[in-house]
Amino acid sequence: MDSNRETTPRVVVGVDGSEASREALRWAVRHAELTGAAVEAVCAWDTPSEIGWAGPATETGFDLERARLRYAEGIREVFGDNEPARLRRMLVQGDPSEVLVRASEGADLLVVGNRGRGGFARAMLGSVSQRCAQHAKCPVVVVRARPTEHR
Ligand SMILES: Nc1ncnc2c1ncn2[C@@H]1O[C@H](COP(=O)(O)OP(=O)(O)OP(=O)(O)O)[C@@H](O)[C@H]1O
Ligand SMILES: [Mg+2]
Repeated sequence: MDSNRETTPRVVVGVDGSEASREALRWAVRHAELTGAAVEAVCAWDTPSEIGWAGPATETGFDLERARLRYAEGIREVFGDNEPARLRRMLVQGDPSEVLVRASEGADLLVVGNRGRGGFARAMLGSVSQRCAQHAKCPVVVVRARPTEHR
């Protein structure tokens, strides 16, 4: 067993490219800096059109390598040249809430935004954050997008 895993707290954050998820990512990293935790930034995709930062499918179909590049670019937009060393990027295929709930197993904290890229403009809490709050295996923090950057 990896002895590091036993001692280093693990914070999971769901990122779909939305402003709320970027805010969640910033919050998770700030929190991890205080607690010494490692941060797993998880981007889940079901179909290519839902990839978020990874962008829509191309005519030639979904290219995972391209998705990884887009995801890396998205993270770079948030942190610039100062990407935290404690950040680990994960691009995982599957239903977003199922992927995040699975990732929350053994984690110390799950962080999500209140809204995502889809959903109704007036909804206060998206379905993924709701399911995470209901089913996660660890404490959940829901971070709101800043009002002016809501969508
Ligand atoms: N594909 C995803 N991968 C990782 N995290 C995600 C994904 N989709 C949503 N999340 C997380 O959940 C948060 C809330 O998004 P959610 O999808 O619940 O709201 P929404 O898109 O506005 O509404 P809905 O998807 O229910 O129509 C996001 O800020 C992000 O933290
Ligand atoms: Mg969504």
